[in-house]
Amino acid sequence: MLALVTGGTGFIGSHLCARLLAAGHRVRVLARPGSGLASLEGLEVEVARGSLEGEGLERAVAGADWVFHLAGALKGFREADLMRVNRDGTGRLLRACRARAPEARFLLVSSLAAGGPGPGPLREDDPPRPLTWYGRSKLEAEREVLASGLEAVILRPPVVFGPRDRDVLGYFRVARFFLPVAGGGRRYSLVYAPDLADGLLRAAQTPCPSGEIFHLTGPDLTWAAFGQRIAAALGRPARVLALPEFVVRACGRAADLGARLRGRPGIFSSQKVMEMLAPGWVASPDKAARILGWTAPTGLDPALAATVAWYRDHGWI
Ligand SMILES: NC(=O)c1ccc[n+]([C@@H]2O[C@H](COP(=O)([O-])OP(=O)(O)OC[C@H]3O[C@@H](n4cnc5c(N)ncnc54)[C@H](OP(=O)(O)O)[C@@H]3O)[C@@H](O)[C@H]2O)c1
Repeated sequence: MLALVTGGTGFIGSHLCARLLAAGHRVRVLARPGSGLASLEGLEVEVARGSLEGEGLERAVAGADWVFHLAGALKGFREADLMRVNRDGTGRLLRACRARAPEARFLLVSSLAAGGPGPGPLREDDPPRPLTWYGRSKLEAEREVLASGLEAVILRPPVVFGPRDRDVLGYFRVARFFLPVAGGGRRYSLVYAPDLADGLLRAAQTPCPSGEIFHLTGPDLTWAAFGQRIAAALGRPARVLALPEFVVRACGRAADLGARLRGRPGIFSSQKVMEMLAPGWVASPDKAARILGWTAPTGLDPALAATVAWYRDHGWI
């Protein structure tokens, strides 16, 4: 099969490219004109230069059997920034597919954020209640896909961690010294990036009605318990530092201000604080297990050990 991977230069996309190649498929990556290809080093991928907001989409999708759409914005200064990339960019890619790859299977990597939080377990057919700009923009992207008429599958991962991730990396860094915890007993689902890549491939290969939504998720645990397992993987003592909610909110506002001064949005922001203080983000894995026959194959401790080893090898921690 020929797979187009948008966002192939990013964290999850690079794991997906490796998984697709290992399974014997051809991979073409959509990369923006200025995008670096370091995360794809050693992988035999074809590169199609183009952007969700510019030129090159029709050339990139031409002849693809599978279109894995991972390119997206995870942070922005305002909702419109996220809508422009996640909703409108998805719409442009879908139009290119209708023109040049109308038979392709379109796999949208959405997010648990599109469905919104809950103590869980959240199910795919729960009425969506996204909480943040990001969540709303991902839900709008899902709606674009469902309205497109293309054969499509929507995948909603929770928090993703693993080699090359720069977002959860900050928690690995501070976990060497202490474990800041804002969420109290709130539980969060997690998935290891190579496992997620495996689930995405399974979703591409498994026949199912068009428009189905699946959580691709691994274990769920409290943020403190996750930190303790990270500390164990680091070989450090786990010192939990419980932060009152007002402190976390103040940190979020300070981060917003810092981002404005730098002129670059950061992953930690008052929008992220809203997600952290939500009742929980536990996704049910049942539907993916039942229909796709997929459950996350790697245990949490081996996944954390591999992530720590990668970060150490590359001098990230
Ligand atoms: N990380 C998570 O915990 C998580 C959880 C749930 C869902 N997701 C979803 O998974 C997808 C991938 O996330 P990630 O964590 O791998 O993010 P990432 O490392 O930031 O990668 C984002 C990718 O999107 C590309 N991109 C951004 N804007 C683009 C545009 N206008 N045109 C073309 N390409 C563009 C980036 O290209 P450049 O190389 O040029 O920057 C990069 O390849 C996203 O759709 C995200 O919403 C992520």
